[in-house]
Parts: sequence; C-alpha cells; structure tokens
Amino acid sequence: MGLIDGDDGLPADEVGVWAKEKHTYLKRYLDISRGTRKKFIGERKGGAVYFDLFCGAGRSRIRGTNEWIDGGVVAAWKTSREGDAPFTDIYISDIDEIKLKACAERLRKLGAPVHPIHASAADAVTQMISAVSGYALHFAFVDPYNLEALDFRVISALSSLKRIDLLIHLSAMDLQRNLSVNLAADDSAFDAFAPGWREKVVTTGAQQEIRMRVVEYWREQVSSLGVWPSIDQRLISGEKNQPLYWLLLAARHELAHKFWKTASNPEGQGILF
Ligand SMILES: C[S@@+](CC[C@H](N)C(=O)[O-])C[C@H]1O[C@@H](n2cnc3c(N)ncnc32)[C@H](O)[C@@H]1O
Repeated sequence: MGLIDGDDGLPADEVGVWAKEKHTYLKRYLDISRGTRKKFIGERKGGAVYFDLFCGAGRSRIRGTNEWIDGGVVAAWKTSREGDAPFTDIYISDIDEIKLKACAERLRKLGAPVHPIHASAADAVTQMISAVSGYALHFAFVDPYNLEALDFRVISALSSLKRIDLLIHLSAMDLQRNLSVNLAADDSAFDAFAPGWREKVVTTGAQQEIRMRVVEYWREQVSSLGVWPSIDQRLISGEKNQPLYWLLLAARHELAHKFWKTASNPEGQGILF
C-alpha cells in the first residue's frame, strides 16, 4: 500500500473507513482493562508491555475523505495514558521501514517508551519476546492485511509469555475470495496461517463449510497454545456490507475474555456489572 504525506509532515497510510471501527474495539478493550494494567505499573512492578507486530505509519487518512486518524498503536498509547495506566514499553515492527520510522517518531513525540524493530513479524516477535520481562503484563495487537502474514509462529511465540492477551485481525475477505486458490496451491497462504491444515481439514463440500472448518482448525491450534480464542468474534464489514475481517481476543484468563465480551459489544449494556 502506498504512502501519502501526513497532516503532521511525516509519511502516512491511507485506510478504509472501517479502520475506525477496528480502533474503537482496540481502545475499548484497553480502556476496560486499565485497572488490571495499573497493578503492573510502578516501582518494582513487572510493567505493562504493548506489542504491535504490524504497526503501519501511525497516522492515516480515510480513503476518499480529508479525515485523519491515529494508527492503532498511537491510539493505544493515548488511551493508556488517558486512563492513567500508560504502557511501560511499546514494541513495534513493520516490514516497511519508512512506515516503522514514521510510527516510532510519532510515538516518541508523544513521549511513548517505543522500541522499533525493522523485521517481518515472525522475526520481530522473537526479538520482542527476548527483550521483555516474564513478570510483565503483555498485550499484542496482531493486525496484518491478510492471512499469510498472520503467521502462526507469531501467535505461538507470543503465547510463550505467561501474561499475554492478543487482539487478532483475521481476514475474512482473504478466506472468502481466495479459498480455492489457497486450497489448490502448493505454496498456500494457509501453510503459514494454519500449519498442518492439509492433514486435518476436509476440503470437500460447500465453500462456506470449508471456510468454517479452516477457521475452526486454526482456533483449535491457537487454543492448544493455551491462549484460547474468544467466541465473540467481531465481524468488521466494508461500505457495501461485505465481510472484511474478524477481530477476536485470544487469552489464557477468564477476566480478559470478560473484558473483551464487553469491549466487543458496545450495543450491549452492563454485561460486566
Ligand atoms: C493493516 S496494516 C497495520 C495497521 C495498524 N495496525 C493500525 O491499526 O494502524 C498492516 C501493516 O503490516 C505491514 N506488513 C505486511 N506484512 C508484514 C510482515 N510479514 N511483517 C511485518 N509487517 C508486515 C504492512 O507494511 C502494513 O503497514
């Protein structure tokens, strides 16, 4: 995706209007979980760490408009600070070095404790894991454009941390549009996304059913890492109501799932209380 000149003079992204909805859920989750985060912040505490493996430029214009929004990690930092529970370390990576630098610069200007890593997510994640303390509380935003970039090694590496919640973008569009290609190709996007699928997923029958089986298999694989995926998958749709992706939380602890239930249901009232 091409870069544009940002309204603050740094390179920026161009995104679909649905990015706002995605960030709403991210911010709601970080806001609702601030009490837990607070317990890890302060002297002789483990710290509260944020990972964004696919950080983007940190600022975007909504395609076809003059509206500017913060990138996910910038919005996350601001939300954590406004909630009086600011992250103690923010690790970001992007395969695109220009975006990564712009994002790091924006975060620095806001006083964020940012650690940029220029690498693909699968490589960056191992560097991030070895840099953090086992005593910290960790949150990862895993927000790639497509299934192939949602490399299972990323989730697997993150799940080795004791306290980790993952908010994952699962591309429905990719599953839908490219299903037959992915089923037929020798080199399939599914290999990175859901290793072992060839032996386990029955690929006959209606497309809708095959898609469900692929997602179900992936969910089982994620669960087997100890971080079970929430059943509250939030579907984000495009302007013509076409399904784009699901956002879902994967976490070990019941409390995180409770938070996500509330965060992902802005229409519902008082589920937590
Ligand atoms: C959906 S955008 C991220 C948006 C950002 N999380 C936000 O909320 O503002 C995906 C980003 O992933 C980057 N990317 C694509 N493949 C990657 C990979 N294998 N490793 C790391 N970054 C990658 C792209 O350059 C792009 O900036």
